[in-house]
Amino acid sequence: MTRPKVLITHALFEPARKVLDEKFDTEYWNAAGQIPREELLKRVADKEALICLLTEKVDEALLSRAPKLRIAATISVGYDNLDVSACTHHKVAATNTPGVLDDTTADTAWMIMMAVARRLLEADAWLRSGTWPGWDLDQLCGADIWGKTLGIVGFGRIGREMARRAKGFRMRTLYHDAARVGSEIESKLAAEFVSFDRILIESDFITLHVPLNPGTRHLFDAKTLAQMKPTAYLVNTSRGPVVDEAALVEALKSGKIAGAALDVFEFEPKISPELIALKNVVLTPHIGSASVETRTKMALTAADNVIAQFEGRRPPTLLNPEVLAGHTATQL
Ligand code: GLV
Repeated sequence: MTRPKVLITHALFEPARKVLDEKFDTEYWNAAGQIPREELLKRVADKEALICLLTEKVDEALLSRAPKLRIAATISVGYDNLDVSACTHHKVAATNTPGVLDDTTADTAWMIMMAVARRLLEADAWLRSGTWPGWDLDQLCGADIWGKTLGIVGFGRIGREMARRAKGFRMRTLYHDAARVGSEIESKLAAEFVSFDRILIESDFITLHVPLNPGTRHLFDAKTLAQMKPTAYLVNTSRGPVVDEAALVEALKSGKIAGAALDVFEFEPKISPELIALKNVVLTPHIGSASVETRTKMALTAADNVIAQFEGRRPPTLLNPEVLAGHTATQL
């Protein structure tokens, strides 16, 4: 019996390769770096499943060139790279990898938040430069995190993990989301639901955990950044375009806010040179979920979705359940 053909745009990790190779006719993009778009379009043409990265767009142009495609599984929780309604139109199941990266991503946000507030990178660079003269009272004094007000924008799984960490640092936690969570969750996490304006005005640290969509693009622009405290810090581990990068540079340069910790950028992999020149920022290259354990789990989640699809089960993290009705997949 012929096995379904799967294109995987990365060599993945051994455990995920193992489960996929057992069941499918697999083709991996093993070369270093991202698969070029033309190569992706060429290779996906005869495939029934695609496992891709957040840097690859699954859009009308791709879907119309992949008539056999039954599932597109992105190895990321954010799925702004998938045109879900085009997938539905083409009867292609779309899946992401929620749930397995919450702690790791919250850890990253916490790490860069502390790094910018306590000037970790400046301290490290000074010591390595060989010019540190020894201890002095006013050297590299940053801002405390403990006891301050944390504003969480987007109170999904990762946002809630931030609230859990904030409790350990005796912070006051405010959150804003389209919907308020139940009072049980609020009291367990000691988080108070407030308006977006109150987040801006009252927070000492604002951390972003929203998906990228038309409603969140440039949520932080010149106007909203100007509402923040001049002593406040912005932390972004969600998606770069949630922040207007030019406006952020301006706010950082003019002292409208104290600093920023950024793991994601508006025009990745391009980073504004002005941002790079600033001292009051910490910049990391989109490593939110980058632990071996978590990235392996993400790859396995994508594999599970593809396996479920071809075993006639509902993919566990299906984004467009509408595709299920009347759909007949090749059975394994
Ligand atoms: C990473 O950015 C993800 O969405 O998983």
